[in-house]
Amino acid sequence: MKVLALCGSLREKSLNASVLRSATDLFAPPWEITVEPGLDRLPFFNADVEETALPDIVADLRAAVQAADGLLIATPEYAHGTSGVLKNALEWLVGGGEIAAKPVALVSASPAVTGGDNARAWLTQTLTVMGAAVLPDGLRIPQATRKIADGRITDEPTLAELKGLLDDLARAVAEAREDSAALAP
Ligand SMILES: Cc1cc2nc3c(=O)[nH]c(=O)nc-3n(C[C@H](O)[C@H](O)[C@H](O)COP(=O)(O)O)c2cc1C
Repeated sequence: MKVLALCGSLREKSLNASVLRSATDLFAPPWEITVEPGLDRLPFFNADVEETALPDIVADLRAAVQAADGLLIATPEYAHGTSGVLKNALEWLVGGGEIAAKPVALVSASPAVTGGDNARAWLTQTLTVMGAAVLPDGLRIPQATRKIADGRITDEPTLAELKGLLDDLARAVAEAREDSAALAP
């Protein structure tokens, strides 16, 4: 089972990138996780470009989503929404349709006590309209600067919550596989 992880923050010391690093530590075969590296190199979405000359980097992103069994998305909260870089990536994925029916787990880490709830709600709406199967219970990490250090989660209860989210994602992937097998001719 392959999970593709997307990080909405470009900061070197990003709390959200740290969460994905910890998620990577928790993965064990047969599970694989890949953190998509190139979101900041995507051009701004332009429907004319999409129709006439899809950039290779966009085609690569679409192929990576297509090949994944599920997605793990870590988002920062900026002005009560997600980041521009993540929204831009999702706009490129609307037309391809690769994300449809794909299980998606959301996590948000923020120094605030609200834990990025607005960003996750915002993303849930966007992903749902794109047809993704967003897990109902994402993970909020409030006051994340107290729970993350040196690029990884250090708080044991938060690590356990992250493990729980990954287990939920695994279950959703297994269920999606059973559903598509049942529909196969
Ligand atoms: C422009 C800007 C807007 C922000 N808006 C919010 C916000 O609305 N809610 C919130 O909880 N945090 C907000 N923050 C704080 C971010 O959650 C914080 O910088 C966080 O560490 C970003 O995620 P990262 O560590 O993964 O880069 C904002 C930060 C910036 C720079």
